[in-house]
Amino acid sequence: MDEAENITNISIIVIDREENTRNIIKNYLSEIEGFDFSSETFSEFYDFELGCDYAINSQNAIVLIDISENPEKALKVIKTIKEQKKDIAIIALSNKASTDTIIKAMRAGAKEFITKPIIKTDFLEIIKNLRKEMKNTEQKDSCKIISTFSNKGGIGKTSIAVNLAVELAELSKEKVALIDLNLQLGDVSTFLDMTPNFSMDYIASNIHNFDETELLKTLTRYKNTSLYVIADPLNIAKSKEITSDQIKLLINILKKSFSYIVIDIGTNIDSKTVMALDMSDLILLIAIVNLPAIRSTQRCIELFKRLGYSKDKIKLVLNRYIENEDIKATDIEEVVKQKVYWKIPNNYLTMMSAINKGVPVNQINRDSNLAQNYMEFASKISDYLITKQLEKDYDLN
Ligand SMILES: Nc1ncnc2c1ncn2[C@@H]1O[C@H](COP(=O)(O)OP(=O)(O)OP(=O)(O)O)[C@@H](O)[C@H]1O
Ligand SMILES: [Mg+2]
Repeated sequence: MDEAENITNISIIVIDREENTRNIIKNYLSEIEGFDFSSETFSEFYDFELGCDYAINSQNAIVLIDISENPEKALKVIKTIKEQKKDIAIIALSNKASTDTIIKAMRAGAKEFITKPIIKTDFLEIIKNLRKEMKNTEQKDSCKIISTFSNKGGIGKTSIAVNLAVELAELSKEKVALIDLNLQLGDVSTFLDMTPNFSMDYIASNIHNFDETELLKTLTRYKNTSLYVIADPLNIAKSKEITSDQIKLLINILKKSFSYIVIDIGTNIDSKTVMALDMSDLILLIAIVNLPAIRSTQRCIELFKRLGYSKDKIKLVLNRYIENEDIKATDIEEVVKQKVYWKIPNNYLTMMSAINKGVPVNQINRDSNLAQNYMEFASKISDYLITKQLEKDYDLN
């Protein structure tokens, strides 16, 4: 029988107030050959706190948790488990299957979502697939790459990459890598006032010998957060030695243990930056509202078309936006034939103060329109990427 997948060395933890659901799950699991319901392989909890503590202290577990009765508490439990134990796979159970509920569960850290009443074949299929994935530690597709690009200088690419990466780390509490691909004179580390342990040239030239753990040791963690930075080379001459194959390998290794990779691509178009653009799930094309910038944006969009990128992958972001200017967002949309995805307000004082102090804008003033905007932007991007992944996984189109 197909369900007779050997899953004896994983434990299943069910946290659900409904005895009926716990029994149904037990019943389904009993169909799996070799599943023995010993205390190591199966535990059930009525109480969320007890279930959470138990999950945090277990190994190689799949946690099924009901999020319909007390969503706030359940989502908090999911977050806590995920923060403390990355390798636990969480399945959210709910009698509501709205996109909003699914997104909330996924954002908290659930890997799968099952609607109640639980259908046996779906349940066994999910358990089987999770098991396979857990065996094969590579987390396929779960890492998302976001890059900032414009073929014009001084438009806000670095400010956006840096502040977005900070907010994504804060929002998700998951590992975020920020790569400075301005290989000649990048300024990501200046924006965050960091002295990197190793810069891109060292990492790139050794990348063939690194696995995830060794690579992680060369990255520089930003303060006490889950953000890790790869800075540009100190020596400009060294940047010429970096190859696009090295960048590709670097990104592929990072994908195994990071949830997001944010790349400040810069203005240059060469084999390395095209490689990074190719690998990106989202390209934030940064523009400001003036005629030369609009023309450059148009050229970028044409270039992306030639590179074969789908319209979906390119998001037009207006930086330093002022309402009621002569040129409106709609005028730009008409010229470049692309909707504006996001507008970042013009706030020179907050931005300059952040750059001069070498901190993200949220540390200058969390209530400023700029800090609030970056927070909402990170949340919008994360929701968008999760929704896209769900559509892909569940074939929702
Ligand atoms: N939202 C904003 N409001 C006001 N000023 C801003 C805003 N965002 C960025 N700036 C200003 O724009 C300038 C350029 O920003 P940034 O360095 O991020 O651009 P860039 O596109 O990365 O530039 P480069 O091409 O040199 O790498 C900075 O001096 C910054 O203060
Ligand atoms: Mg820059």
